[in-house]
Amino acid sequence: MLRFFIPGIVLISISSCIQPDQSFKEAAPVSRILFGSCARENKPQPILQHIIEKQPDLFIYLGDNIYGDTEDMQVMQEKYDLLGSKPEFQQVRAATTVLATWDDHDYGENDAGRHFRAKAASRELFLNFWEEPVNSERRKHEGIYHSMLLGPEDMTVQIILLDTRTFRDNLWKNDGSGPFKNDYMPNPIPDSTFLGDQQWMWLEQQLREPARIRIIASSNQFGHEYNGWESWTNVPHERQRMLDLISSTKANGVIFISGDVHWGELSKYEVKGYYPIYDLTSSGLTETWDSVEVNRNRVGDPVLETNYGMIEIDWDKPLPLISFRIYDGQDSLKLHHQISLEDINF
Ligand SMILES: [Fe+2]
Repeated sequence: MLRFFIPGIVLISISSCIQPDQSFKEAAPVSRILFGSCARENKPQPILQHIIEKQPDLFIYLGDNIYGDTEDMQVMQEKYDLLGSKPEFQQVRAATTVLATWDDHDYGENDAGRHFRAKAASRELFLNFWEEPVNSERRKHEGIYHSMLLGPEDMTVQIILLDTRTFRDNLWKNDGSGPFKNDYMPNPIPDSTFLGDQQWMWLEQQLREPARIRIIASSNQFGHEYNGWESWTNVPHERQRMLDLISSTKANGVIFISGDVHWGELSKYEVKGYYPIYDLTSSGLTETWDSVEVNRNRVGDPVLETNYGMIEIDWDKPLPLISFRIYDGQDSLKLHHQISLEDINF
């Protein structure tokens, strides 16, 4: 296991590398994680200024970070360059540690999965733009999934960045014959996959790493109710597989964060025999939608304005408190819900 510092901020540990342990106690606890998604590179992004003012320990881009939508990698690169040239984006990068995963539009095609022809070339651009080190484990496997352990030993936060694109089978189009709506119906083929075998095996290893809180960043929503748009509910047996994996690895403290849908909300997914899975969705940094879908798992109200999300951890308590927040583009607090770590433990 390799542990190293991002200067001035946190200590990172990347599993599958082996290196003698270094001074864990020198690492600062991670207590404020901000995130967002769905940002058009050709629009101003003033919301980033509010994100900087919150002084996050981390900012996570959850996908649709640009609207690439092309197999032409010159066009894709130009769009990354446009984002990279924005002063507000440069200021975020200078102010905090920035992590990223992708969704369909920065992968390269609306709703695309494993059959997208330019996925290898797109991956190269993604990893280069997000400054993945040349010797990173992330560059040694197909796709862009990645994980890290942050903070001191008794306050470890694990960040798991899923790749919901590279390995995902085609979605099952809603043919209008059943009780389904919008674009997609649940895929009935039992071995159809969302993450792919290789990523599932990797994820099992990550969930066996010791950590108190685990933030799983999934571009697509996990914990909401089926609504016919892209999400884990399109492949329900894979969603159940996730619950079963969390259970079999006894991975305490799992929280999902997600983007993609152009509104913000908190979902609480409760299945008998498992602890509740909270999924805090923030979308988008520039994009909004003109309606919101029914979601019986929703806690509080949806956020229809541009928005960003925040998870704050109060480590001062014996059982840490975890706050979920969504702020809109004017920096008004639109959603706040607090739980104890005890609530998401076996
Ligand atoms: Fe998307």
